[in-house]
Amino acid sequence: MTNLVTGATGTVGREIVRELLERGHSVRALTRDPATADLPAAVETVRGDLTDPDSLRAALDGVTGLHLITFGGPYYAPLETGPRILELAREAGVRRITVLHGGGPSPVEDTVRAGDIDWTVLLPVEFMANALEWAEPVRTADEVSEPFTGRLSAMVHEGDIGAVAAVALTTEGHAGQEYVITGPEVLTVRDKTEALATARGRAIRLVELSEEEALARWAAAGHSHEVVDFLLSVYRDTPAVGRTVADTVERVTGRPARTFAAWARDHADTFRATPTEAPAAG
Ligand SMILES: NC(=O)c1ccc[n+]([C@@H]2O[C@H](COP(=O)([O-])OP(=O)(O)OC[C@H]3O[C@@H](n4cnc5c(N)ncnc54)[C@H](OP(=O)(O)O)[C@@H]3O)[C@@H](O)[C@H]2O)c1
Repeated sequence: MTNLVTGATGTVGREIVRELLERGHSVRALTRDPATADLPAAVETVRGDLTDPDSLRAALDGVTGLHLITFGGPYYAPLETGPRILELAREAGVRRITVLHGGGPSPVEDTVRAGDIDWTVLLPVEFMANALEWAEPVRTADEVSEPFTGRLSAMVHEGDIGAVAAVALTTEGHAGQEYVITGPEVLTVRDKTEALATARGRAIRLVELSEEEALARWAAAGHSHEVVDFLLSVYRDTPAVGRTVADTVERVTGRPARTFAAWARDHADTFRATPTEAPAAG
């Protein structure tokens, strides 16, 4: 009996792997490149590509719990291979599936929902790890520049997504559930900047970008028109689900969701010009 984690080298997948291992479960991790995967030694790392489902045959052998992502290429292009992946999972005897919702229509998620293997859909809001985008400007210029700095977010610690997934994959009672996964509080960009400043022990200047400046930045980063439109709409008017605290983490895992202040303390060195800068306060 083992659990296969797809997206295992990613932000969420690494946390699912960690949580499964901590709970004493056997873990197999899928990656397109085992040589660069850098996963814990206790993990069986296997090569496979979700755009080529038959490459997953060996990886699925003996698997009872399967975590799926819904994308499979650059810019999170939706995977079209859901039906074949599900066929192979059924043949292998998979009993539980978790799916990381990708924010849009997905042949993977649709097929899992329609199938006869117990499924749980994970619907996390904004990841705390998105704040890593600020690490370089904070380290080099003590600055964060963002549009809509008053926007609210119930952002979630990626470790808590991993914990909910690990519980859903390995225990009864989660079949057919859609779990909205949030942090324990609703924060503005200013709140987050202040938490990071406290953690690194040095002030951060918050610069408000105009909408035009934000659009130019996202376009320069290579985002498609669709992605730029999506970002603008959620920044301008965050849907209620993204700014409302849900009790899922505590209900499913039995322990409270982690705060952004805790995330910031864990990552304080990433936001310091040198690790010898003043230690975190508080
Ligand atoms: N960022 C947010 O705030 C947020 C909020 C809610 C939901 N989401 C959703 O979360 C998802 C992104 O998760 P993440 O940040 O954990 O991902 P990530 O860090 O970008 O990692 C991408 C992972 O996907 C794997 N992968 C990509 N294409 C693959 C393929 N063809 N075959 C096998 N593996 C493949 C990569 O594996 P290898 O490179 O090792 O092969 C890697 O492990 C998206 O669906 C997004 O919509 C994000």
